[in-house]
Amino acid sequence: MKPRASRCSSAPLPTPSTVTFVEFIKRLGRKNPVEPPGAVRIFFLSVIFLSFFLYLVYFLSPEGSSGPALLRDPPRPQQLQQHGRKKEGEDCDLFQGMWVWDTNYPLYKPSECTFLDAGFLCSKNGRPDRTYTKWRWQPSNCDLPRFDAREMLERLRHRRLVFVGDSIGRNQWESLLCMLSAAVPDKNSIYELRGNPITKHTGFLAFNFSGFNCTIEYHRAPFLVPQARPPPGSPKKVKTTLRLDAVDWSSSRWKNADVLIFNTGHWWNQEKTIGSGCYFQVGNQVDLEMTVEAAYRKSIATLFDWMRRAVNMSKTQVVYRTYSPVHFSGGGWRKGGSCHQETLPDFSAPPATSEPWLLQGVGEVISERILSGSPAKLSVLNITEMTAQRKDGHPSIYYLGPTNSSPTHRQDCSHWCLPGVPDTWNELLYALSLRWDFVSPQKKKATPLAFGGLRVD
Ligand SMILES: *[C@@H]1O[C@H](CO)[C@@H](O)[C@H](O)[C@H]1NC(C)=O
Ligand SMILES: *[C@@H]1O[C@H](CO)[C@@H](O)[C@H](O)[C@H]1NC(C)=O
Ligand SMILES: *[C@@H]1O[C@H](CO)[C@@H](O)[C@H](O)[C@H]1NC(C)=O
Ligand SMILES: *[C@@H]1O[C@H](CO)[C@@H](O)[C@H](O)[C@H]1NC(C)=O
Repeated sequence: MKPRASRCSSAPLPTPSTVTFVEFIKRLGRKNPVEPPGAVRIFFLSVIFLSFFLYLVYFLSPEGSSGPALLRDPPRPQQLQQHGRKKEGEDCDLFQGMWVWDTNYPLYKPSECTFLDAGFLCSKNGRPDRTYTKWRWQPSNCDLPRFDAREMLERLRHRRLVFVGDSIGRNQWESLLCMLSAAVPDKNSIYELRGNPITKHTGFLAFNFSGFNCTIEYHRAPFLVPQARPPPGSPKKVKTTLRLDAVDWSSSRWKNADVLIFNTGHWWNQEKTIGSGCYFQVGNQVDLEMTVEAAYRKSIATLFDWMRRAVNMSKTQVVYRTYSPVHFSGGGWRKGGSCHQETLPDFSAPPATSEPWLLQGVGEVISERILSGSPAKLSVLNITEMTAQRKDGHPSIYYLGPTNSSPTHRQDCSHWCLPGVPDTWNELLYALSLRWDFVSPQKKKATPLAFGGLRVD
């Protein structure tokens, strides 16, 4: 098998325009054997020159720019299948690549998925274009395996997959519910364990894919560390604290899950912490001087240290999903920033986040504490850079408010429309999951079900 010669090498495919041109000449030649008159000749010379110019632009444009990506053919299903069978990316960075236009996308129809928050249902909320649903992620050095919902559900049989984090984590969780449920004909066999609707939840939601005895859960913990009452004797301005030396109190509910997917970042800003009287605490000490950045780093370190202690790494597969960039242009959140006019990705977007430490912090902690000394079962869903290019994917003003009637005109440039960008994160998650050595369900010992806050230790 020739790996990806057709699409990832620099040899360009014939573009539609050149093919048409050659055929045009041939056809013209058949009809009109005499030399064309001057004006026509000039026209032809211009066309030739233009074609050559376009060819050069195509040939020389760097990977990741919009030109070649748009012209490239989507891979044939068979190709994907073959690559999917290969051991994915021992030598391939799945997160280096580019967005390519692919009309086979999206992977599900929003009307066929009942698990979507009103805020993410952009098409239903009046967003006129669908282009943001048609981009596929193409790694530079290999292909992603084709997402196979049935295969993923089989691998998750008798297991719990848990998202822990902020509402962007919920965004990804809802995307995964849609992607997986597309393979389940009887949608009624998928139900929330306590019967709660997606819009109203207190802390967590867990859907049982009962045909597979598998739960896909979301536990809200926006900082990943707990928010607590300040210790007695704290200054008046301290209304709450973030305990940087502990992991969210809900951890007892999910630490025994088979797959844990963490994310955080959007709440680590001045406004949501110190600005609203929430200071940082370690032990019994509230540190009034500590910056948000320092606190964030400390919390991530706490999380990874806790993992080593409290999570059974021979059972649980841990995934850390990196920061999902926001795209408020012309001002920040609540400061006049907007993204509602964006309809195309920005392939030259810098790996920017307004707070680069949100990304660096994790990278440093991971290399210091994890890679230098075991837990093999940790993967990083390193989506920050690829996601930075997708300023076109946000709900922006397309949200009809809680009563679903009048547009709120609020700019949401943090969350993502579904179908959309988080589907890609889940395709990457699927690719990672194929490497996990989940023993087959038959061999797995039936252990007492440890779900939800039922068992606390
Ligand atoms: C469902 O999965 C759990 C493990 O998550 C297992 O303990 C239980 O026996 C399974 N139930 C059935 C009916 O297979
Ligand atoms: C999910 O559904 C299966 C099949 O009905 C059932 O055996 C299992 O107990 C359910 N899981 C939970 C956590 O309720
Ligand atoms: C960790 O998980 C493995 C695999 O499920 C199990 O065999 C082992 O007993 C667990 N260890 C602890 C300390 O619970
Ligand atoms: C994520 O990817 C970026 C760019 O490819 C890289 O600089 C960074 O080190 C990666 N971070 C982690 C935690 O792997």
